[in-house]
Amino acid sequence: MNRSISIVPGFDLWPGLLDLRVQADLIETVRAAFEAAPPARYETAYGKAMSVAMTSFGPLGWTSDKAGYRYADRHPGTGRSWPDMPQALLDLWAELGDPDTPPDSALVNLYRDDARMGLHQDRDEADPRFPVLSISLGDTAIFRIGGTARKDPTRSLRLSSGDVCRLSGPARLAFHGVDRILPGSSSLVPGGGRVNITLRRAKAA
Ligand code: SIN
Ligand code: FE2
Repeated sequence: MNRSISIVPGFDLWPGLLDLRVQADLIETVRAAFEAAPPARYETAYGKAMSVAMTSFGPLGWTSDKAGYRYADRHPGTGRSWPDMPQALLDLWAELGDPDTPPDSALVNLYRDDARMGLHQDRDEADPRFPVLSISLGDTAIFRIGGTARKDPTRSLRLSSGDVCRLSGPARLAFHGVDRILPGSSSLVPGGGRVNITLRRAKAA
């Protein structure tokens, strides 16, 4: 396992952890998931469509509409269960997430050219003792991370294809977001752009 870099306490980065072969296999799995469970641009609670399109793997998927954010056991468009969690993601979580409790959701974010994600906390999960594990694929992102209060200072860093990072402990509820992606910095994603997969434990163990 590559060495990790601690960016701020609780926020660790494994640069280039996934080699090109693993990245390509994951993107193929994501492409199949996009057919079974098409990525959607959800509305925020404020009624504005997000620029990032999302789908999920696993028993639970994250969705949003005017009623608010939540985890649901079905894709809101197709009414079907989400695609199964790929074994490669279960294995990565067992190593870097939690050895005893499997993830019950993997949120897949698709960023095309001008998509971005505003600063937010991941707080729809029942138990913040479980980390959030993030995998970057395709175009490089300018990622921003701050503290647990919105007004805390932030810093930005680049997340490249194959990088894995983890929000845990004191950074589990840190504000974070994606300022922008660098279009054309990778050719991994069919049609271009960036895919981010976040592994989570949504329900209490
Ligand atoms: C997220 O916060 O859900 C996504 C972060 C990322 O795309 O790197
Ligand atoms: Fe997040």
